[in-house]
This record gives sequence, C-alpha cells and structure tokens, in this order.
Amino acid sequence: MREFDEQGITAAVLARMDQCGDARFRQVMTSLITHLHDFVREVKLTDAEWMGAIQFLTGVGKTCTDKRQEFILLSDTLGVSILVITLNHPASGGTTDSTVQGPYYWEGAPELPNGANLAIGVKGEPAFYSGRVLSSDGTPIAGALLDIWSGDGEGTYDLQMEGDVGMKARGRIRTDAEGRYAFRSIKPEYYPVPTDGPVGIMLRRMGRHPMRPGHIHMMVSAPGHQAITTHLFAAGSEYIDSDAVFGVKESLVTPYAKHPPGAAPDGTRMETAYYTVNYDFRLRRA
Ligand SMILES: [Fe+2]
Repeated sequence: MREFDEQGITAAVLARMDQCGDARFRQVMTSLITHLHDFVREVKLTDAEWMGAIQFLTGVGKTCTDKRQEFILLSDTLGVSILVITLNHPASGGTTDSTVQGPYYWEGAPELPNGANLAIGVKGEPAFYSGRVLSSDGTPIAGALLDIWSGDGEGTYDLQMEGDVGMKARGRIRTDAEGRYAFRSIKPEYYPVPTDGPVGIMLRRMGRHPMRPGHIHMMVSAPGHQAITTHLFAAGSEYIDSDAVFGVKESLVTPYAKHPPGAAPDGTRMETAYYTVNYDFRLRRA
C-alpha cells in the first residue's frame, strides 16, 4: 500500500528499516519514531506548530558556536541530560554522584600544583577546597586528576566574558601520595543559563526561571577507575531547590564554612573573610 492513514503511517515508517543491520540503532529509531508519532497524534500538532518547531530547532543550531552549545542547554533544561546521566552513572556502593557537564567545559586547563590558586584575578569571595579522592572501598588514590572549572563570584564564566579573556577559574590538580587534593578558588554564585537564544525564549514561554544554584564543576579521574563528571553545590545557595537544569543531588550539596580574616589553610594571611570546603570523592573501580 502507498497511502497511509494517521495510524498506519507509523508502521509504514518502521517497516522501511527492514534492511537496517544495526540492531541497536534500529531499536532506538523504532522507539523514537513511535513516540514522535504518538506525540503528534496526541497533541494534534497544527501546521503552524510544526513550522514553529522546525524554526525553533533551526534557531538552536544557528545559536551554537565554538563557545556556546545551545543544544546541550536544550537537553539540560528539558531534563534529558540528567536523565541520561542518572541511567548510565548511578551512584552505588558509596561512590560520588555524577551530574550534568553543562555548556562551559573547556578542555586543556593548565595542570597546577596541589594547593594552587585557580582564581587569581577572578572576582569573588575566596574559598579553600580540600579533601581526598578514594576508591569505593576507601583506599586513597594517589595521582587522581581533578579537572576543575567554575564561573566567578558573580556567576560569570570566562567563556561568557567580553573579548578573549583566556581561562579563568580553571585548572587541573593531582592528588598527592595520600590521595589528598587542595586548591583555592572562589565561592560560586548562582547564575542564569544563557537566555538570549531560543532556549531562553522557550523557558519564558514555559513560565520558568533560568537560574542555577552556586556550584563548582569537576571531572575526577584516576587510572583503573571510572571517571565522574560532577559539581559541588554551595549549601544554602538560592535556587538549590529549583535548578533550571535539574542537576542537584543531595550528596553533592556541600557546606561552605565561613571564617573571619586571618591565616588561611595554605598559610596565606587573608585580609577578608574566606570559606573552606572539604569533600571526599569516591570512584568506582573500572
Ligand atoms: Fe556551571
């Protein structure tokens, strides 16, 4: 048959994959086509809405640059990113939870000595981070790598700043023989995801705010272990209960202990108040 009614079209499209030799691809496309057709039937998608969707996705693509990934933002704000992470990286046996990578990772941050200051020239209240990287059985991991990035104390990432400012608040730190790491950065502040593109328009139409609670990103990796991409969230930050990308996990919400001016953990004499954060990461053996 060459002509299809509103139900028969789905089976017809699926039948065209008869010659598909990739079983997994066929499974994924079968489900995608089935759900997409069901969705179109369920909402009775109009011509104008179909064209609006085409224009929206075109706009999302055109907004992507080498410094901006609007499709990841779309995935993040629709909860798809965290769903994929939760399915593929469940924390179990005491390993550290994973969360979204977000759009601001920049590969190739400088490797700095343990204890280094990542935030030289970066706005924000100073914070000293320390802890250990452990195997899930509690064994400290020497030479584990933390690839760290965050916005500044006003919630702005280097990639968003005017002009080419280079890397700010980024660095890679390796654990010492006892699995310990330490570095100085800032206390991260809440910030909006970019709202000047198609995803921003979508959020406004949905009646949603674009804010993410204060957090610092890290990828933690070590030989013989599964790497994790995660955040530490500042306990008490605004929007901790309504993260625009659904990335908060209780186990990653971390107190920032405030201290008066004085001697900091690295011996620096601090003229202003500063924070300390202590967090141990636990990695599953590969
Ligand atoms: Fe972020």
